[in-house]
Amino acid sequence: MTIGIVIVAAGRGERAGSPEDGPKQYRRIGGKPVIAHTLERFLSWSRSGLIVVVIHPDDEALFAAAAAELPSAAKVVTTFGGDTRQRSVYEGLRALSATEATHVMIHDAARPFVDHALLDRIAEALDQGQEGVLPAMPVTDTLKRGGPDHLVHETVPRAGLFAAQTPQSFSLPSIRTAHEKAAALRREDFTDDASIAEWAGLPVVLVEGSADNIKLTVKRDIAMADEKLSHHPLPDVRTGNGYDVHQLEPGDGVTLCGVFIAHDQRLVGHSDADVAMHALTDALLATCGAGDIGDHFPPSDMQWRGAPSKIFLDHAAKVVRERGGTIMNADISLIAEAPKIAPHRQKMRENLAEILGISLDRCSVKATTNEKIGFVGRREGIAAIATATVVYRGDAG
Ligand code: CTP
Ligand code: MG
Repeated sequence: MTIGIVIVAAGRGERAGSPEDGPKQYRRIGGKPVIAHTLERFLSWSRSGLIVVVIHPDDEALFAAAAAELPSAAKVVTTFGGDTRQRSVYEGLRALSATEATHVMIHDAARPFVDHALLDRIAEALDQGQEGVLPAMPVTDTLKRGGPDHLVHETVPRAGLFAAQTPQSFSLPSIRTAHEKAAALRREDFTDDASIAEWAGLPVVLVEGSADNIKLTVKRDIAMADEKLSHHPLPDVRTGNGYDVHQLEPGDGVTLCGVFIAHDQRLVGHSDADVAMHALTDALLATCGAGDIGDHFPPSDMQWRGAPSKIFLDHAAKVVRERGGTIMNADISLIAEAPKIAPHRQKMRENLAEILGISLDRCSVKATTNEKIGFVGRREGIAAIATATVVYRGDAG
């Protein structure tokens, strides 16, 4: 048995209002389009075969954008729907008939909370040879029939009444034949597939639905779904700072952020004395309480003599990553009377981006003079201040 999936998503969502926000199946809940949630539930279910998504011809770009948010859309194909849900399902069934699917689950894109336990219950009924399976919930409210006069005419006994859900599931040839028959007779008024099956004389068995498997119909449903999915843990964002100074002496140039700048002075230090990278190394280590550069690379250790400071920064980035951190940005302020930093800033940022493995826009290098005052102003040394922001996995709250 191969279970193909048809997800109908060609409706205009009129009852949801706000047409300027687009059809409801593409609105975002919990940070993702509704339809991406729905598809993920099927994509992660082990028994799903090919998934045919029936879309509106106007929604091609919307669908492509939503599909791009899926971990994988390899099993997903699309076809165009029609003016009614019935027509859209029919188009989906036609597309699926050309594949190896023997059975089909027909699901509303607007039901993003379908769960695997429900899909398993339905599949089990299909496994037992049922031709049609309808997930449904017993009606719990007392039912009244009212008239156009807004008066209650009667109370409808609710025993034996169920609210139908999707995915309604069938043997593929059986439901396709039923749909064809309805289309041929121009019966276009069916609002779900179980009613077409009933009309065509197909037996449909009830299985227990899921209370969460609601259809997003009105605006409030979408807002509530968003609220439900948007658990906001406190993100574990940490900031570290670092400060370093190196003395200047007569020489031929300085290395800052890995860029050698010809100059009539050089920085004194036992590595290449790149104050900027040293300050940033400390800032990164600070985000996970991992001490400072001196703890990791003792100045007494001769092997770091003349070493490029890239080694220290590389190491700090590795420590951060090993502890579950993702570097969000790095910012360095250089305080130097000379040489001029501006012409080298771009290259400096590129060096940082490469060493830290983050994008250029997350790396910043700035420089200022010290207005000729203090040790920096007297050109006795260069100082650097750095800040790093790192997000760690998990929840600080
Ligand atoms: N649907 C469809 N083609 C249609 C009408 C509906 O594929 N011509 C889909 C919808 O996209 C939805 C599902 O069928 O996923 C259930 O329909 P419904 O909730 O009624 O959605 P809409 O028809 O879009 O909304 P409304 O009735 O409020 O306009
Ligand atoms: Mg509708």
